[in-house]
Amino acid sequence: MKTIIEPFRSKMVEPIKFTTRSQRMQILADAGYNLFQVKAEDVIIDLLTDSGTAAMSSEQWAAMMRGDESYAGCASYYRFRDKVADIFGFSQVIPVHQGRAAERLFFGCFVKPGDIVPSNTHFDTTRANIEARGAQAVDLPCVEVQSPDSDHPFKGNIDIQALQELIKAEGAHRIPFAMLTITNNAGGGQPVSLSNIAEYRRVLRTHNIPLYVDAARFAENAYFIQRREAGQMTKSIRSIAREVFSHADGCLMSAKKDGMANMGGFIALNDEQLAAKIKESLILTEGFPTYGGLSGRDLEAIAVGLEEVLSEDYLQYREAAARYLYNGLTENGVPCISPPAMHAVYINAQAFLRHIPQSQLPGQVVACQLYLEGGIRACEIGTVMFGQHDPDTGAESVARQELVRLAIPRRVYTQSHFDYVIEVAGILAQGKEELSGMRIVYQPPALRHFTATFAPLTTTKGCNPAPRRPASAAV
Ligand code: F0G
Repeated sequence: MKTIIEPFRSKMVEPIKFTTRSQRMQILADAGYNLFQVKAEDVIIDLLTDSGTAAMSSEQWAAMMRGDESYAGCASYYRFRDKVADIFGFSQVIPVHQGRAAERLFFGCFVKPGDIVPSNTHFDTTRANIEARGAQAVDLPCVEVQSPDSDHPFKGNIDIQALQELIKAEGAHRIPFAMLTITNNAGGGQPVSLSNIAEYRRVLRTHNIPLYVDAARFAENAYFIQRREAGQMTKSIRSIAREVFSHADGCLMSAKKDGMANMGGFIALNDEQLAAKIKESLILTEGFPTYGGLSGRDLEAIAVGLEEVLSEDYLQYREAAARYLYNGLTENGVPCISPPAMHAVYINAQAFLRHIPQSQLPGQVVACQLYLEGGIRACEIGTVMFGQHDPDTGAESVARQELVRLAIPRRVYTQSHFDYVIEVAGILAQGKEELSGMRIVYQPPALRHFTATFAPLTTTKGCNPAPRRPASAAV
């Protein structure tokens, strides 16, 4: 069949509150033009993140009723542990409340000041947790990632030559372990090929450097391997995932993504001594090692979610949904990073608003304008998120790229929701010459994108008014 349908139907629904454009103009101004400060109920389509926003299945809800909330040795932990061990192939499974808790615990045991941790690209919490230990997080993305229009199938790959140069220049003794993010979220959600992972492992092994995978979107990465890498088409998603992790010494997982859960995560590894050290630290802050900051029912939801995410029907639909959104946006004159990822579509705001210099935050303009025109919440991934501000001189640096991420929550939105997003983006495209930049009014010293406030550079009607309103019910 040509038409790929959602492999599920709705059993419970959550109403969407509609707002008018003039209400949204006020909401934006009240939020200091920062979408993190907008109440979720004032958002029509929320594409801020795919993290913790999945709709759970009837099987997950049923499993939650079986949740065993015993403090020690709960049955839910053993079901969770066995599922993780089965899929990922690691014997030691340590639950945590989310991905960054795994990062803090793991790096706390494994990283010391002066160390270097390479990766294809570290996610921002991973980087922050490494740097908080006085170590250096080094990104070594492959060169193809620098061409937004290149259709290279594995733009998430790590640059092996750059890795070899890093090891030669700094010495393997400074690298306690290496990481790999699959898919590469901060690098446009692009996948990593199995052959790149194997080669990465081979080079690391010659220097006795262990490899730990940031596995948040492991099933999506496995699907891309199956569909795009030579010789992989006949393999199941499960066996590809297993092969990926066979090259690693362990993984850190945010189960809020491919765990299909609203909360949770884990560290999985084979090294019993290291696991014991992590568990000692876990008890101090997260909880007893058989629940690690989660309820028994959360462990149950993740155990079922990890199985469901391996479904090819689900992954095929998910890939088709992202591609549908990508095609609609690009056909409407909104340039996006190519090829489309699976958990998100990334608008190239720099290419879209060529008349707005990076210093005037074109990504933030697009994000605010999507909200103003259609109540759509997206996330700026550009100079607001990655630019640097020097508090002494007031100097500002800009980011490598100005992107706006439209993240796709799992099993939440339908095709008509995407049609609506595409239509709103088309309205932006038609009036884009009239849009002007923004400036930062207030910014905190770190992670400024969450709490900074902004102002439009032309203020006649609040945020840059585009010429027309979307011709939909949501006005
Ligand atoms: N690693 C990756 C690749 C991530 O994308 C995230 C979170 C984390 C680690 C941290 O996990 O949120 O459970 O603590 N990404 C979210 C996002 C926040 O919107 O992309 P967490």
